[in-house]
Amino acid sequence: MRRTSYLLTVLLLAATACGGHFPQTTLQPKADFGFAIQGLFGDIFWWAVVVFTVVETLLVVTLIRFRARPGGPTPKPLHGHTVLEIAWTLAPALILVFIAVPTVRTIFSTEAPAPAGALKVSVIGHQWWWEYRYPDLGITTANELHLPVGQPVDLTLTTADVIHSFWDPAMGGKRDLIPTHENHLVFRPESTGTFLGQCAEFCGASHANMRLRVMVQGDSAWKAWVADQQALPAPVKKGSLEEQGAQAFQRYGCTGCHTMGDMAHGIVGPNLTHVASRTTIVGGTVVNDSAGLARWIGDPPGTKPGSLMPNMHVPPADIAALVAFLRSMK
Ligand code: CUA
Repeated sequence: MRRTSYLLTVLLLAATACGGHFPQTTLQPKADFGFAIQGLFGDIFWWAVVVFTVVETLLVVTLIRFRARPGGPTPKPLHGHTVLEIAWTLAPALILVFIAVPTVRTIFSTEAPAPAGALKVSVIGHQWWWEYRYPDLGITTANELHLPVGQPVDLTLTTADVIHSFWDPAMGGKRDLIPTHENHLVFRPESTGTFLGQCAEFCGASHANMRLRVMVQGDSAWKAWVADQQALPAPVKKGSLEEQGAQAFQRYGCTGCHTMGDMAHGIVGPNLTHVASRTTIVGGTVVNDSAGLARWIGDPPGTKPGSLMPNMHVPPADIAALVAFLRSMK
């Protein structure tokens, strides 16, 4: 009975591993870097299958054929077999060469400098959110990295505090953001869509809440996004709830940490000039709608443990005004 339940558990685990939706799989690359890793993984996997099959077959055959039998003869002692020993030294050495050459080639190709014409983006890690600056476009945004399909991108990785690691498996491998050091991550997205990633280096209380999205867009959608981000949002209407929200934004000192159009130029927190154009807030963990914004403003440390943004004990009426104001910043 116990054996049957063990067997069923193993079968169940095996079966659940086959289905389902895995948004952060490394096995469905959507950029050249990701394809390079998958190609290498495929090569090494099949070498491992060959080695496993040969070794296990020999082992099982030997166990069965040469096992001790009652009344059987005593085995003859053997000493050395030059040809066999050379063979089993050379064969693994050759396999290691077949693995090492493509591995080193992939390392060099994925570390190569960006080609001319690559889109430059500065990625700055913060506890616990991502800042993206497009120096040639004059755009600053957070957590959701918009990229045009088919164009190489050169990410310059730095950090405002501790070590983080940028990891979007559909695009390619992880790369660390290290204090006082500049790293680069170069890839060319090959399909449009939204591809989930996250910080992959433990960086404190809300490491797990430091998510990111790479949003790869077709030509017209990308151009429209750039134009929207470069324009200032429409000014709030006089006497509206949004205007009360804008006043509350100044009264609660939000302007000290956040940039907001030409009203505020803080740099501690995310630039909120076009916050309403994002699908998520709070390190990509909360849906950017009225309920999500209200929850966040009402209790930042409760929503993202360790959050630098304090609980300001904002009364509900002011939260409603702030939410209306932020929702209007498209
Ligand atoms: Cu940033 Cu972990």
